[in-house]
Amino acid sequence: MIDVRNLRKSFGTLEVLKGIDLEVAAGDVAVLIGPSGCGKSTLLRCLNLLETPSAGRLEIAGRKLEFDGTTRVPERQQAEFRSATGMVFQNFNLFPHMTVLENVMSGPLLNGLKSKAEAKKLALALLDRVGLSQKTDLYPRQISGGQAQRVAIARALALEPKVMLFDEPTSALDPELVGEVLEVMQSLARDGTTMIVVTHEMGFAREVASKVVFMEGGHVLESGPPAEVLGAPRTERLRSFLSKVEH
Ligand SMILES: Nc1ncnc2c1ncn2[C@@H]1O[C@H](COP(=O)(O)OP(=O)(O)OP(=O)(O)O)[C@@H](O)[C@H]1O
Ligand SMILES: [Mg+2]
Repeated sequence: MIDVRNLRKSFGTLEVLKGIDLEVAAGDVAVLIGPSGCGKSTLLRCLNLLETPSAGRLEIAGRKLEFDGTTRVPERQQAEFRSATGMVFQNFNLFPHMTVLENVMSGPLLNGLKSKAEAKKLALALLDRVGLSQKTDLYPRQISGGQAQRVAIARALALEPKVMLFDEPTSALDPELVGEVLEVMQSLARDGTTMIVVTHEMGFAREVASKVVFMEGGHVLESGPPAEVLGAPRTERLRSFLSKVEH
């Protein structure tokens, strides 16, 4: 489903991604871990073309792009590629002037692929799926952070992406609200949603991930099944990282 080859990204003279290779099969959940500044968000943002890679190849759900640092990918092709992924951020980024329901309907209405009635039907089904059928008419300021993040997940799903990308979806939440968001993500995983998740929630990584990817300094240092990567780290870097996040 996802094939990343030798992906590089520089900001000016700072090279942040130094040749990333990553494969994620359909239905798999890849959990991305690594110290602050190692390039996790930049990698997700490249997959969604929020950043343009400096070099390398990206393939998502059969759509392929190559980057050489100079050739611009045409807008239309970018939009096509971007529609393969749905992204959920740490800070929800809901539209404050729209109700919960309107937030979830907004994507399909904007891209013109659904009628208002169809968009509403889909949004209601997705809000039910994330456990928010009772909150459809409230505004973002009237719901909790955990509920807001579940709305953000429903909003991303409304565009029917092939892959969901999560960038520290629970990091901004009060501890008692983390569980409800992880539960929704776990249920998506059970339903076969292909996901890449940046998180420090090692319990989630252990239970839900098909693959754990440890990044350091713009490289993938270790990757494999959670039992291997988390249970028997090969590098001192990973051992030391785990000892910090698990306590
Ligand atoms: N738009 C940008 N312009 C310049 N430098 C950037 C930009 N975005 C990210 N960087 C730099 O790239 C490096 C990697 O940042 P990134 O946000 O990908 O790290 P991260 O692994 O997600 O860290 P964290 O765990 O703190 O979220 C950092 O040194 C950061 O300052
Ligand atoms: Mg980040």
